Amino acid sequence: MLIVSASGSIALARRVADRIGARMVEVNVKRFPDGEIYIRAEKPLNEEIVLIGNSYPNDSLVELLLLQDLIYDLTGKRDFYTVIPYFGYGRQDRRFLNGECVSSKACAELLELKCGRIITINLHKDAIRDYFKKAAIHNLVPSRELSELSRDTDIVVSPDEGSFYLAESVAREIGVDCAHFDKKRVNDREVESSIESDVEGKKVLIVDDIISTGTTIINASRILKNGGAAGVEVACVHGLFAEGAAERIKKECISLNASDTIESCYTNYSVSESIAKKIKEG
Ligand code: R5P
Repeated sequence: MLIVSASGSIALARRVADRIGARMVEVNVKRFPDGEIYIRAEKPLNEEIVLIGNSYPNDSLVELLLLQDLIYDLTGKRDFYTVIPYFGYGRQDRRFLNGECVSSKACAELLELKCGRIITINLHKDAIRDYFKKAAIHNLVPSRELSELSRDTDIVVSPDEGSFYLAESVAREIGVDCAHFDKKRVNDREVESSIESDVEGKKVLIVDDIISTGTTIINASRILKNGGAAGVEVACVHGLFAEGAAERIKKECISLNASDTIESCYTNYSVSESIAKKIKEG
């Protein structure tokens, strides 16, 4: 088996390759002076292929589409796996206002044009799977991996209702209670949050799927600390950490943890085992 990795996902791709005993195909990815992307596989694609790459940020989406096209062109087959560790545009999963593009649907339709089997990690909403009409899609939720980050957690808290399913499954793995905030988004950088549960004297693990500007997490951490929490740890799946978010969050909590779907200095757990297991199952 051969693993083809987009340039932003090489660390995770190597971990997956090690776990399944596959070889990495070197890919030459260059930028032209005008920003266009050039792709060349440095080895023949003459074995079963697994492609790994994010559809975020925008350049990575283009790179991933070019790689899918290359694999399909050279092998004539659509039945290779594309693993998309972070599926970008997941938050625009419907038309919230008249005239808006349903970006999740637009991306799903592009990403299944040349590929018949897709693995995603923790889609922002499970319903996004329905936008993939042609490809078989498997969405892996890293609850076990997240629960292993817990250090004497008394309660797992989701910073909004949307991530409650994730926090709940992590709490179940750890064997503790779970609660959620009610969150109202004011704008891209402002939210209003409240929680009813009593956290006095408790060690709290906040679990969210995505951290972008950090506003959601910082608000939640402050409210928990004001409510007497004994300590606040933060864990997410996809650490986008826009606009210096990680540094701001670090000032508010004991620890900040993210997976390797997007590699950063806060990556301290891996989703490679679950991906490798799914690939081996076929
Ligand atoms: C929202 O539905 C997500 O689950 C995250 O809570 C959100 O994307 C985090 O964004 P930010 O870090 O900018 O508050």
